[in-house]
Amino acid sequence: MTTATFAKGLEGIVASETEMSYIDGEQGVLEYVGISIGDLAKHSTFEETVFLLWNKRLPSKSELAHFEEELQKRYELPSGMEQRICSLPKTAEPMHVIRTMVSALAMHDPSPNDNDVESARAKALNILGYAPTIVAYFDRYRRGLELVHPDKSLTFSENFLYMLNGEKPTPAMAKAFDLCMITHADHGLNNSTFAARVIISTLSDVYSAITGAVGSLRGPLHGGANEGVMKMLNEIDSVADVENYVTQKLAKKDRIMGFGHRVYKAKDPRATDLQKLAKQLAEDTGKADLYAKSHKIEEIMEREVASKGIYPNVDFYSATTYHCIGLELDLFTPMFALSRIAGWSGHIIEQLSDNRLFRPKAQYVGPHDAPYTPMSER
Ligand SMILES: CC(C)(COP(=O)(O)OP(=O)(O)OC[C@H]1O[C@@H](n2cnc3c(N)ncnc32)[C@H](O)[C@@H]1OP(=O)(O)O)[C@@H](O)C(=O)NCCC(=O)NCCS
Repeated sequence: MTTATFAKGLEGIVASETEMSYIDGEQGVLEYVGISIGDLAKHSTFEETVFLLWNKRLPSKSELAHFEEELQKRYELPSGMEQRICSLPKTAEPMHVIRTMVSALAMHDPSPNDNDVESARAKALNILGYAPTIVAYFDRYRRGLELVHPDKSLTFSENFLYMLNGEKPTPAMAKAFDLCMITHADHGLNNSTFAARVIISTLSDVYSAITGAVGSLRGPLHGGANEGVMKMLNEIDSVADVENYVTQKLAKKDRIMGFGHRVYKAKDPRATDLQKLAKQLAEDTGKADLYAKSHKIEEIMEREVASKGIYPNVDFYSATTYHCIGLELDLFTPMFALSRIAGWSGHIIEQLSDNRLFRPKAQYVGPHDAPYTPMSER
């Protein structure tokens, strides 16, 4: 009998190769195709970042223009989808809506199961283009507002905020949102990406793989943490209350949302970029106290748990950022999903390019040779 290594939660196990993101958790480094997240945050756009992840190189000017145009063609949903969205319960959670509607998109694709790499790219582009429209339509429908149809002359980020709010965003808001999209686009073999790779490894279909990934992302230990951060900030009345709040939580062994990471044992580099943005936006929108509370939480956490390698992660400052952009709380995790469709899709393409079915083992720890007790004797 062969003995296999058992690692709970697959911690430390290398299960895939990728050319997309490189993470050094000890040093707090994140690169997409070798380029630091800080440089991309400063110089790139979300569209260019997606091209980089899917093609493993930066585009030329004309390649980028072509890619943007192809994405813009997908802003408008296939016919029937709008009605479907507007027949959902208004109380539905937006993450459940995205999951269900991404799944429904497969039924509007004449060849949903084509899994050659070029077809997979086309389907990924469909989902990336349609997803913001799904979220914006649902949000306006539940608020009883008229739907705002996409504007194909706008970028991904501008168009989403336009469809959501009914007015074009300021350049500063659009840039802030775009930076959130860039920083959340890919992150190694995180839980939802792994879910996507596991599903596509059966040669299922791109829609199923992304649907499964959305389901994984919504968990509070993964993408759902940004909503937890905002709830925590709302529970704390002022900066003066932070000390008590955090120390009492830690004493009860409760987790502070937006801190800690399976991979990073230093400050998440995405948190560094988002922190600057959150500070600026909070000042610009008259919510400086929100940033001040966050900063104080970070200070106390540094004192109390930095020795365990617990630092702010991507969700900590993205919460303040999304709030200052004016997003409803339950749209925070969907924003993570909109961006991460880029990473999930890139991993699906990588998996399909060199597929091997994922099939780990479970270590059986139950009894053997147990008697079968007839029903009448149980
Ligand atoms: C992300 C997360 C699941 C990673 O956890 P992990 O690698 O399994 O880490 P562990 O659960 O082994 O925790 C190690 C230690 O740090 C502590 N810890 C981890 N995250 C913590 C947090 N957010 N707040 C307080 N303490 C934390 C644990 O209590 C544990 O302490 P102990 O050794 O004294 O028991 C975890 O940090 C967490 O729950 N964070 C909050 C949710 C979150 O922000 N998720 C988004 C991730 S991007």
